[in-house]
Amino acid sequence: MINVTIKTNLNIYKTTCQKNTPLKDLIKSLNINFIFPCGCSERCFNCKVKYINNAPNPSKLETIKLKNIELEEGIRLACCSYITEDVKIELNEIEYSNFIDI
Ligand code: FES
Repeated sequence: MINVTIKTNLNIYKTTCQKNTPLKDLIKSLNINFIFPCGCSERCFNCKVKYINNAPNPSKLETIKLKNIELEEGIRLACCSYITEDVKIELNEIEYSNFIDI
């Protein structure tokens, strides 16, 4: 099992997963309020997260859409990356109170 720590502006989540688990699935299973603006259809490139350690190799899409400095700093797209080893990840979580109920 792989140990995953996700640190947000609101919480710290610790969990385990199988190798090659999609990060988006992990975020959803932990009920983290993270926005996937295009619904994970790989069109908006706004679902950026930061791997503090052990960033996976960038996908072809990430190498095209992210700047080199971002890739070097561990920035990846949450909808395109897979957990391959023990990792710590940072991302911005939306506070529930910021949702408008209409
Ligand atoms: S949610 Fe749009 S590219 Fe990831």
